[in-house]
Amino acid sequence: MRRGKKVRLVCSDIDGTVLGEPDSVVEFRKIWDGMGSERPVLMYNTGRLLEDAKRVIREGGLPMPDYFVGGVGTMVEEVASGEVLTEYSQVLDQNWERARVHEIVSGFEGITPQADEQQHEWKSSWFWQEASAADLERLKSSLANAGLEAQVIYSSARDLDLLPMTANKGNALRWICERLGIGLDEVVVCGDTGNDSSMFLVPGVRGIAVGNAEAELLEAIAGTDAHHSKRICAAGVLEGLRLLDVIEEPHISDS
Ligand code: GLC
Repeated sequence: MRRGKKVRLVCSDIDGTVLGEPDSVVEFRKIWDGMGSERPVLMYNTGRLLEDAKRVIREGGLPMPDYFVGGVGTMVEEVASGEVLTEYSQVLDQNWERARVHEIVSGFEGITPQADEQQHEWKSSWFWQEASAADLERLKSSLANAGLEAQVIYSSARDLDLLPMTANKGNALRWICERLGIGLDEVVVCGDTGNDSSMFLVPGVRGIAVGNAEAELLEAIAGTDAHHSKRICAAGVLEGLRLLDVIEEPHISDS
């Protein structure tokens, strides 16, 4: 991974990335809270919807971020103002026919819908256990043959999200960087599964794939210079942040 410019924004997935190993959550929180006002902007970029993301942050004991991106890059909330930034979502209706997408997907054998709480107007979410690359291609062809535009995002060898073409975690990150005047080369992204790959593929960003990252993510980002941490979850994020000098000293957790 390039050392590059000073990091001004840390954009991290939640589940399996900063959340998943309680001891390292405590360490992450302690280090983050100790950084003071000079710390980078913190953004959590998750597949969960916004309220659900806030709940797991609270319950898991993670630091509050400056921004939440929820629903796999379909909604953005600025924490300081408590506002959902609807300017971001305005473009998502373009060429998005959710009901027709739903109809095509539900015709596939082995695909079952996720709970209603995981669904919203720009996110159609399903379970599809161990789908192969060929299965995903079949689904993409069926959508294309029906004249539909939809992004097919597959994560954890189980979760299938269908989204408008303009929505994904990477596009939401780019939008916020532009709004804040932060260069993409001042950003570090952290993740563990397939829906994180769009963040790693944003040109110029540096990436940290945690030690427990799924093969689907590692394959998708193979051409990048992302760091693949030895340590898992938040400890893996901290390992990468130390390499980038975001954190200066190795932290001794029982000191
Ligand atoms: C989260 C969401 C789920 C989605 C998955 C992958 O688990 O709750 O709806 O499918 O992320 O993006």
